[in-house]
Amino acid sequence: MKEKFIVKKKGISIVVNPEFIPETTEVEKIIEYFDVNEYKVNAKVLDVHYGRGKTYLVQDPYNRRVIIRHYWRGGLIGKVLGDKFLSFFGSSHRAFREYDLLQTMKKMGLPVPKPIAAKEERSLFFIRNDIVMMEIPGTKNLGEILSARRLTDEEIAKIGDAVGKLFKAGIYHSDLNINNILFDGADNVWIVDFDKCVQRTIGKKQYHEMVNRLKRSFDKFKEERNNFYWSEYDFSKLLPAIKSSYEKNY
Ligand SMILES: Nc1ncnc2c1ncn2[C@@H]1O[C@H](COP(=O)(O)OP(=O)(O)O)[C@@H](O)[C@H]1O
Ligand SMILES: [Mg+2]
Repeated sequence: MKEKFIVKKKGISIVVNPEFIPETTEVEKIIEYFDVNEYKVNAKVLDVHYGRGKTYLVQDPYNRRVIIRHYWRGGLIGKVLGDKFLSFFGSSHRAFREYDLLQTMKKMGLPVPKPIAAKEERSLFFIRNDIVMMEIPGTKNLGEILSARRLTDEEIAKIGDAVGKLFKAGIYHSDLNINNILFDGADNVWIVDFDKCVQRTIGKKQYHEMVNRLKRSFDKFKEERNNFYWSEYDFSKLLPAIKSSYEKNY
């Protein structure tokens, strides 16, 4: 099966995964597929996660549970430009890039969500981006879990295994933090949120950047919350688990 097809209409381009939406679908329907207001009006919003923006879990017209995320800019630029990315930068094609990377990672057997569709809406100078992907059912992110209980040694080893595999596959995760690492009901680890992530050589520098960012996210949560069940000792178990998975020959 084809990996994607593209539909276009008046400044809107959408990349679609034919595994989930048939190529015969009307363009209007595909555009509407991204419309969070439609899901709100029809009471199809099942959950909302608040990060930089809102990430919606909705019931789609095919009765699947899917995640819709709009792309927002961070930092000072974000205060000025909000969700607008300058169209003359290749890096502004955020959703298309994340879609392709998710497809690549799925083919590599990495534990990441399946992309369904990615949309760009262009005006004269700007691009706005959205992505839809399959929900990984029954998950909680590490932030949620650690607010309720400690992780077992086996779970720490599983996180190390998944993170090490990602690094070994040459995926640079630009925001590896505890809310982007999930456990499902069968205690499998999943990794999400691949905006701005790339496939590249992971040298010592990139390896440590990612591990340090992850460490900072544990520390930040620990500082901010009264109940957060994570210790330096746990991190001292996670580090070698990441390293041994990264160095293992599969
Ligand atoms: N495919 C998915 N399946 C299940 N839960 C998801 C999925 N994608 C994201 N989530 C949940 O939504 C939260 C926010 O999504 P994320 O993609 O990390 O956006 P952001 O961090 O920009 O808000 C995640 O921390 C995770 O708990
Ligand atoms: Mg996130």
